Amino acid sequence: MSWAIEHVIGAFREAFDGEPDGVWTAPGRVNLIGEHTDYNEGFVLPFAIDLAARVAVRVRSDGAIRLFSTAGSEGVAKLSASEVRREDARGWSVYPAGVVWALRERGIRVPGFDLVLDSDVPLGAGLSSSHAIECAVASALNELTGAGLDAPELVLTTQRAENAFVGAPTGIMDQSASLRGEAGHAVFLDCRDQSVELVPFDAPGAGLVTLVIDTRVAHSHADGGYASRRAACELGAEVLGVKALRDVALGDLDEARALLDDTTFRRVRHVVTEDQRVLDTVQALRTAGPAAIAPYLDASHASMRDDFEISCDELDTAVEASRAAGAIGARMTGGGFGGSAIALVPAEDEAGVRDAVSAAFSERGYRAPRLFTVSPADGARRLA
Ligand code: GLA
Repeated sequence: MSWAIEHVIGAFREAFDGEPDGVWTAPGRVNLIGEHTDYNEGFVLPFAIDLAARVAVRVRSDGAIRLFSTAGSEGVAKLSASEVRREDARGWSVYPAGVVWALRERGIRVPGFDLVLDSDVPLGAGLSSSHAIECAVASALNELTGAGLDAPELVLTTQRAENAFVGAPTGIMDQSASLRGEAGHAVFLDCRDQSVELVPFDAPGAGLVTLVIDTRVAHSHADGGYASRRAACELGAEVLGVKALRDVALGDLDEARALLDDTTFRRVRHVVTEDQRVLDTVQALRTAGPAAIAPYLDASHASMRDDFEISCDELDTAVEASRAAGAIGARMTGGGFGGSAIALVPAEDEAGVRDAVSAAFSERGYRAPRLFTVSPADGARRLA
């Protein structure tokens, strides 16, 4: 049994006495490309990473829910399975609580349970630490209740938890990567019908590493900024008379410019061009391999910085410094306004890029970034 499994089981024994019924895991994600396209029914290309949340769970017969995190100082949180309320859930417990709430909303009877969380997905880094928790909990409860939901249903259940319980108007990318990822592959997802193709992404095989640069900043307008971008996209779709921006073609953009105010037009242009960049990236990966996607990463970042306006100085610094030091392509990843950037770096330049990024942050007086490499890992599953 691996150290990670033993660790969460050990923590369970200490918190609750006795053995868990099982241990489930779900990873965080990075998005290679396709940002803010998911809620526009477009395309995304994330992958599950080798950093994950693990939950050890044991069903209880009295309807009580007890939650403990190895990272927290909050002790054991207590809730009731039959009446999960947002105002009762504090800190990270809002995520398991949201999953219970969303499962119950689907008519699934969720029993009480004891749960210990142990996660190595860094918090607030834009790597979907919250979705990793939700997907691990949803996988555990799906099995323990015999609900038998398939991956697309689990995706919608965790999205419902996020949107209606946690209160974040997010799309389906993060949980799709976490639930449906596979080692060695990126998840090419059509967010309109949830169809998935797994596309091989072997950076090391091409002499490259995928370097994550966690800026360790989360700007205070992150929540409002995300919601306002989503609202602008919905407005754009309405004015252009389409169901979602997915239905706007590149060739429609000239006409769109005449119909939309400048800001809304630039939001729309980002989404429409980003969808195309995802398709181009998938094609490049299939025909030429990882190095060929670099120009699309750069173009995606520029589009997010200039048209969608969700980058920030720290993210731009991460991208520019890594590119100047030898990265062949780089972009911010995730919702924006902080969090992480990814850079595709020749293995022999990794140390130099790390040093250059750290130096650029220090020169500007920014907090030291966290730098680490990731590779595509398996999605959510039972471990024990
Ligand atoms: C966050 C959301 C996703 C997606 C990205 C932006 O990660 O949770 O649904 O919208 O931002 O691409």
